[in-house]
Amino acid sequence: MNVSGKKAVVFGGTSGIGLATVKMLAEGGATVVAISRDPSKAGDLPSGVTVEACDVTDSAAMEAMLNKLAPFDILVSAATGGSRAIGPFLEMDMEGYKASFDKLWGYANVVRYGAKHVTDGGSITLVSGAPARNCRPGQIALSSVGGAVEAMTRAVAREVAPRIRVNVVSPGTIDTPMVALQGEERDALYTKMTASNLIPRAGTAEEVAEGIMFVIKNDFVSGTTIDVDGGWLLS
Ligand SMILES: NC(=O)c1ccc[n+]([C@@H]2O[C@H](COP(=O)([O-])OP(=O)(O)OC[C@H]3O[C@@H](n4cnc5c(N)ncnc54)[C@H](OP(=O)(O)O)[C@@H]3O)[C@@H](O)[C@H]2O)c1
Repeated sequence: MNVSGKKAVVFGGTSGIGLATVKMLAEGGATVVAISRDPSKAGDLPSGVTVEACDVTDSAAMEAMLNKLAPFDILVSAATGGSRAIGPFLEMDMEGYKASFDKLWGYANVVRYGAKHVTDGGSITLVSGAPARNCRPGQIALSSVGGAVEAMTRAVAREVAPRIRVNVVSPGTIDTPMVALQGEERDALYTKMTASNLIPRAGTAEEVAEGIMFVIKNDFVSGTTIDVDGGWLLS
């Protein structure tokens, strides 16, 4: 797909990986709607980009928003949905574990209410995470949710084929506003988190957005996961 002249809707498009994707789509000539709960955080955006406010976990609001924006050619969600529980499963607060699945419910709303509005030949792209297939200690919630997102992607891709394509991009440790730490503390965290990766540094939001652009543009890719993770899976 040539994104020029196409319409794209990007949930979580106001920060980090989603925002980098919004900018690349706009650079490619697409008109883009970037959506999150507080879109003012996006700052200055290129021409061709507008913003909307919506919580991906609110099914009724999502259905109304996607009906309002329809039709569109490109649908992306990088919205985190909420927070994820970290730590050993046998000590985990189960409400925290359950709440971690807000990311899945958000993506489910995007696909359930958005897929029918994607034009023929269009694509849907979601974002999982490397722990889905190589879980490090303390990451069971990340792993469970990421695995569910990847399974959902494969299942839906089959259901909507050949009319539209559905893929997922799986990032490793990426330097985005998701981590609030600053300065030396931030550097130390990323050094520690990536030490055993083949490429021992945090990735950039743009490196992941390049993966998202690849699956949007390549008409021969569907039902798959693209890893942009610095070699996390072999760590
Ligand atoms: N950064 C990493 O190291 C990393 C690693 C693996 C996977 N990932 C995944 O990559 C995706 C993007 O992460 P990121 O690092 O780019 O995060 P980020 O910079 O924190 O951006 C998250 C975006 O999601 C939006 N969002 C969160 N909850 C939402 C909700 N309930 N409804 C609507 N929008 C919501 C946020 O805006 P509002 O707060 O305004 O709603 C923001 O635009 C996530 O799915 C994350 O799990 C990230």
